[in-house]
Amino acid sequence: MNVDIRINISGAKSSAVGPDHGVTPLDLKQAASLVEVMHGALVEDRKGKRHGFYDLHKDKATIAEVKRTAAAFARFGFENLVVLGIGGSALGTTALVSALKPPYYNLLGREQRGGCPRIFVMDNVDPDTFAAMLNICPPEKTLFNVISKSGGTAETLSQLLLVLDKLEAAVGKARVKNHLVVTTGPPSGRNDPNPLLFVQRAYDAKAFVVPPNVGGRFSVFTPVGLFPAAMLGMDIDELIAGCATMDARCKHSSLTENPAYLRAAVHFLGWHRKGKSISVMMPYSDALRDIADWYRQLWAESLGKTRSLDGREGIECGQTPVKALGVTDQHSQLQLYLEGPNDKIITIMDVKQFRDALAIPKVLPEMGGAEYLRGSTMAKLINAECKATAGALREAGRPVISVSFPKVTAHTVAQMLYMLEVETAMAGRLFGVDAFDQPAVERIKVLTREFMGQKSE
Ligand code: PA5
Repeated sequence: MNVDIRINISGAKSSAVGPDHGVTPLDLKQAASLVEVMHGALVEDRKGKRHGFYDLHKDKATIAEVKRTAAAFARFGFENLVVLGIGGSALGTTALVSALKPPYYNLLGREQRGGCPRIFVMDNVDPDTFAAMLNICPPEKTLFNVISKSGGTAETLSQLLLVLDKLEAAVGKARVKNHLVVTTGPPSGRNDPNPLLFVQRAYDAKAFVVPPNVGGRFSVFTPVGLFPAAMLGMDIDELIAGCATMDARCKHSSLTENPAYLRAAVHFLGWHRKGKSISVMMPYSDALRDIADWYRQLWAESLGKTRSLDGREGIECGQTPVKALGVTDQHSQLQLYLEGPNDKIITIMDVKQFRDALAIPKVLPEMGGAEYLRGSTMAKLINAECKATAGALREAGRPVISVSFPKVTAHTVAQMLYMLEVETAMAGRLFGVDAFDQPAVERIKVLTREFMGQKSE
């Protein structure tokens, strides 16, 4: 079986949905020339190591360190792994857990979890939720991985202070290092005010470094995502191999060979020429649902900009990413997608082979209305619904891109994440914005500190 994910844009072409909403051969030809030029710029960026996400899968030393550290901490037999982080420090781990661990993972017994800890990703400062986590996860049975590239994010710091207080009380200051892993950016100078570095030194805790040229939302294949993944027994080598597979596909400059560029071009054309201001990602698989959430951050924070690359202000660029779930949202969002404003490009993701097809038993044969279900499988049903949705959207003139997973594995999931990162880098160039900064997010961080009473520096 082919182990590569497949991307098909035929449902987004003018031949499928008409020239007002779908990309025409001329649109694609023009976009291809633009992409060719932008590819040159991105290759230069990569060579100049401006965007480190491209080559993380080649960083053998870090990958080995992640595995070694996870193996060392695994010996403590922790019941819980708690990730403290937000945005790019959290969403990648959540996406990997949903995709690669069994459903309801935390409810399984230790043996069914393969001896690995339960996982809690704390990406909010809702006091009720955090207090509940602290009650559920006794510090002496828990490993805390605090993750913040800047080290100064208020949400993550507040969580850490609460945790340190409990940890010290439970295990004593000297043993905190057995329960704490710090993942943060490198020191920027002698007087680096990064509080996480202070904490790491104060407790002599294990530290992982987020490379300075990798932004939060592009950091899933740094220790930000890889260390929790390794602690949970995920196949790190397969994740890395999936990145390498997609990297090889994404080296090409042509739209026919490079799926990331093809998707970037179709989204750009949709936004620029067809009035598509919304990009919906709709996986037909619970395992893939949090990839859509991860993508939401990547697309929104990277493309939502007021300043263009050539310095123009007030451009109000961006395509709003929306996550939906098949089949659940057929009974919620789909009416709007089919009959509401034709302002969306919809990515539908399907899975050819589920872990369990789940045969539908032939019970109650005398009951009418369920003949087509009896003896079939739930996998067939979800895939039939996926096909129905894609077909109906096409019929209604709504552009659809399909992404097909042969199976949900570490290899295919990594391909998808890596592809979306490359796609976003190209989209930044096409939309004409810096895909790698987030000035508005930083502004909120400053304002939050001010509202909390911190004096301006
Ligand atoms: O992509 C980004 O850079 C942001 O979303 C960050 O990940 C988020 O703001 C958290 O920042 P930090 O890792 O510095 O705590």
